[in-house]
Amino acid sequence: MSKKIGYYRANTNIALIKYWGKRNKELFLPMTSSLSLTLDAFYTDTKVTVDSNLSQDYFTLDGIAQSYSDTQKVSKFVDLFRHLAGSQEHVYIESVNHVPTAAGLASSASAFSALACALNQAFNLNLDQRTLSTLARQGSGSASRSLFGGFVEWHKGEGDNSDSSYAEQIADADWDIAMLVIVINDQKKKISSRVGMEHTIQTSPFFALWPQEVEKDLALIKQAIKDKDFKTLGEVTEHNAMKMHATTIAANPSLTYWAPASITALQAVQSLREDLGFECYATMDAGPNVKVLCRKSEIDALSKQLLTHFKPEQLIKAFPGEAPRPLPID
Ligand code: DP6
Repeated sequence: MSKKIGYYRANTNIALIKYWGKRNKELFLPMTSSLSLTLDAFYTDTKVTVDSNLSQDYFTLDGIAQSYSDTQKVSKFVDLFRHLAGSQEHVYIESVNHVPTAAGLASSASAFSALACALNQAFNLNLDQRTLSTLARQGSGSASRSLFGGFVEWHKGEGDNSDSSYAEQIADADWDIAMLVIVINDQKKKISSRVGMEHTIQTSPFFALWPQEVEKDLALIKQAIKDKDFKTLGEVTEHNAMKMHATTIAANPSLTYWAPASITALQAVQSLREDLGFECYATMDAGPNVKVLCRKSEIDALSKQLLTHFKPEQLIKAFPGEAPRPLPID
């Protein structure tokens, strides 16, 4: 009769250089490295209770008990930690998302990062952040990057070596940087990134170009981060996202995550940049929402401009976020 608790908050991250494609689906090993910015505005709080009285795992999300199949998926992830702890005990997982779930705002990133940290604490494993990033990765690839704050690179690693594919912070983003999220649709997406990236690999002739484009973009963006060169940072970010989305459009059958209002947002960003001189650049993930990389010092003025197209509640201001941290256990 014993209970051990882990309780963590982890932020989400938005990729500036996208992860799009796995070379090993079982281990979530990616085709390319990727690079992200952790954001403060979206996060997941997850409490894990290891309870020797339980005969199975339980999982609630936002207070609602999850289905058998969703719990099974999470149980498989928990098995990684049970294995490391040499434990057979079951867990009670309570997760609360402070992000519109599965709307392309990367809720799986904060979710598996928070869960990895809470499991580490509850099973008393004392794993370091790098090891935790390799474990979080096996819940959802992008979660590996949410183990750190600021700018984070997830290394693709080598062959089938799971330990070699980890994330690390490459710089804090403690300068004039922000991200304005334009929420086009906060409903659950129809085609998950997992399915979308696999379909793209299988059927898009443009995918062959993707790994080499990522290599080039990574080199450029890492230099831009070093130099605090916002213009290059933004240009490479926007171009990389457009190239990723071009691979999906060229899939067969064609796939796009864009909604008509996404195009309105992309064009507004371009016009605010070219006509009004705002330093703003767009990126998109596996959903219709548009994220605008901008200057912290310009975000209020930029947001005002976007009110001609969008409602105030569609515009969410986000700033660089921190690494996961423990929450008080009462
Ligand atoms: C477009 O990490 O959600 O947001 O590993 O299958 O869970 P799985 O996919 P996921 O994919 C994220 C794709 C992306 C780009 C990115 O975040 O790098």
